[in-house]
Amino acid sequence: MQQALRIEKDLYYIGAFDEDIRTFDIIMKTANGTTYNAYLLKTKEGVIILDTVKEEFQDIFFEKLESLCRYDQIKYIVMHHLEPDHGGALPELVKRAPEAKILISPMAQPMLKAITNTEGMEFETVWTNKELILGDYTLRFLSTPNLHWPETMSSYLVEHKVLFSGDVFGSHYLDARVFNDLVGDFDYAFKYYYDHIMRPFKDDVLKALALYDQLQIQKIAPLHGPILRKDASAYIERYRRWSTKEPKHLGKRIVSIFYVTSYKNTKKMAEAIYDALETKEEIIANIYDATALEEANMLNILEESSGILVGTPTINGDAPKPIWDLLSCMMLLQKRGKSAAVFGSYGWSGEAPMMVHSRLRDLKLRTPLEPLKVQLIPEKSELLDCYNFGIEFGDIVNGKMVEITL
Ligand code: FEO
Repeated sequence: MQQALRIEKDLYYIGAFDEDIRTFDIIMKTANGTTYNAYLLKTKEGVIILDTVKEEFQDIFFEKLESLCRYDQIKYIVMHHLEPDHGGALPELVKRAPEAKILISPMAQPMLKAITNTEGMEFETVWTNKELILGDYTLRFLSTPNLHWPETMSSYLVEHKVLFSGDVFGSHYLDARVFNDLVGDFDYAFKYYYDHIMRPFKDDVLKALALYDQLQIQKIAPLHGPILRKDASAYIERYRRWSTKEPKHLGKRIVSIFYVTSYKNTKKMAEAIYDALETKEEIIANIYDATALEEANMLNILEESSGILVGTPTINGDAPKPIWDLLSCMMLLQKRGKSAAVFGSYGWSGEAPMMVHSRLRDLKLRTPLEPLKVQLIPEKSELLDCYNFGIEFGDIVNGKMVEITL
């Protein structure tokens, strides 16, 4: 039997446990389920609800809520994030507590109706340093967008020094003991969650941490997984370390060449490009057969690379699967500032390099060079073209300005 759990004086956990979920948001594995965390604060002038739960778990959420207050006592509903795993019970909560005012970030405004499919919800927008003072408590809001949706925000309960961080610092890890000092070892889940949800938004993580640094945080109450009441600062520092670009390789820029090859023709092109890049003092070039890389390694290499070159043959009018696998894992990366280009040997039609080029451009990488294609075995003059392609790409990675045609 799940029951509301006291976190601090007047502050309670009213979230729900999802034991059976094994895949979250299509891309994440959840080996022991997850939690949809929601909180309730009692004040002398009424109740504040902080987030709700996924719709199919709303019964347990309302059961816990009703064990602590009446609906007509609820004055505010703070929604740090509107994704359905947190906003799912909001429409029903608004029906039961029609006098309550919803507090959301300005970016959430256009989404509120769309995501709840409910008309006429009364709301106010809040942002950094705006405060809600109700009775004996103060909730200070913090604009923390893109973590991981544009409308995400955080808030800080001044009197108890509790940060409500939204999905930030979350884990897909279910343990009914709830608090980080009581549950099992969830380190892997904490890192896995960061890698899949926050890693593409490292710059936004650092901006959020700059706001959090101004607070005296003693506990972190995220939207998934354990409440971090012991050593909260250690979790903040982990996020800082993972999101900070460390100067590596003596300040040189990394250019990584990924290729797939059937008859070593695309490989020869890759090697000529590599030779060119190796003449650039400011660059360290690496070359990889994409068929032999694990996804985790691909991700780490891509993340470190300022320049990404993709060599693909064309097979049945398409790029082979390892190339698409490489491209699909880029969704987990921050791509800002990276340049990319494509090359490949082909037999008949040669569509693959342009397909890959278009995909890289759609992913918002800089793609200033047209794809370089060679039919079958590259001749000496074509290998020279590859070399010059490598020189040109290296100059771009080093900051040469070029016009990008769309
Ligand atoms: Fe947990 Fe982004 O929802």
